[in-house]
Amino acid sequence: MIPIDLTGQVALITGVGDNESFAWFIAKTLQAAGAKIIFSCHPRVVGIVESFLERDMDREARLLPDGKTELKVEKVIPCDVSFDAMEDVDEKTRTDRRYAKYGDFTIHGCAEQVKQLTPHVDIMIHSVAFSREIKNSQAQTSRKAYLEAISISAYSLTGMLRAFAPMMAHRPGGGSVVSLTYLGGERVVPHYGGGMSTAKSALQIDTKQLAFHYGREFGIRVNAISAGPYASRAAKGIGDIFQMIEHAREKSPLPRPITAEEVAHATLFLCSPLASAVTGQILYVDCGYNIMGV
Ligand SMILES: NC(=O)c1ccc[n+]([C@@H]2O[C@H](COP(=O)([O-])OP(=O)(O)OC[C@H]3O[C@@H](n4cnc5c(N)ncnc54)[C@H](O)[C@@H]3O)[C@@H](O)[C@H]2O)c1
Repeated sequence: MIPIDLTGQVALITGVGDNESFAWFIAKTLQAAGAKIIFSCHPRVVGIVESFLERDMDREARLLPDGKTELKVEKVIPCDVSFDAMEDVDEKTRTDRRYAKYGDFTIHGCAEQVKQLTPHVDIMIHSVAFSREIKNSQAQTSRKAYLEAISISAYSLTGMLRAFAPMMAHRPGGGSVVSLTYLGGERVVPHYGGGMSTAKSALQIDTKQLAFHYGREFGIRVNAISAGPYASRAAKGIGDIFQMIEHAREKSPLPRPITAEEVAHATLFLCSPLASAVTGQILYVDCGYNIMGV
């Protein structure tokens, strides 16, 4: 038997918005393997996420695969990944009460809070994406929305790694970073606009660049999972996610939709010693859809 045992490891997980997020399932799977979990959530969803972690009515969604243990998080840290440090924050956001109550809600502030909890981080999950014009085609996308989508959905991986690399450096077995991408960053998915296709494309080459840099410097592996379509909250915002799921089901070698658990299992593999020589890769968890020509 080859067990996957992450006991003693700490995982920082971004991108939990609710109990349907990929990141929620990834958290449960990493905890089931023994890792301690810290959440970094957008300031506007911290309260919502805390209630998903506490409410009786959400107990079932918290259950780990053993059917008994519940997801338990060390802390939910507010972090808007648009900002590296407080000096980057515009006046409107700085004075917004939903943000101001948290003090430093930037990537820097998140790293400082994590340092109070643990001297090291072994795993970082980047599961964040946003475009205010996701429903616009590329041709109709404004410059402002395009740049914002890249900043939040792609550059944030670079910003987070810079902040957390010292805590992830030279961990026994090596630190591991996994981000979430989509085929729309490589092929034309006509309605995947608003700068998101460009952001995913950027995220994928950044994964390779960062794998090279942080592998050499710190022994950190950086990979991405390219997930098939899945009806999360963000994906429902695209508009026709159910059509996309049905299309993928019809065309894929495995003719069915993917599940969030399958994305979580592949993430666990990438974070485990089984993937100790795997870095800079895009792993498709899409029932094989990406190999099809028609
Ligand atoms: N659902 C799909 O079909 C699909 C397919 C492939 C890849 N992905 C990717 O998976 C990842 C997770 O998406 P999901 O489908 O679980 O949806 P989700 O809505 O549950 O997760 C997206 C998260 O991004 C967070 N976020 C947005 N802007 C932020 C900011 N400025 N700072 C901090 N957090 C911010 C949101 O709060 C949310 O928790 C994304 O990168 C997404 O592009 C999704």
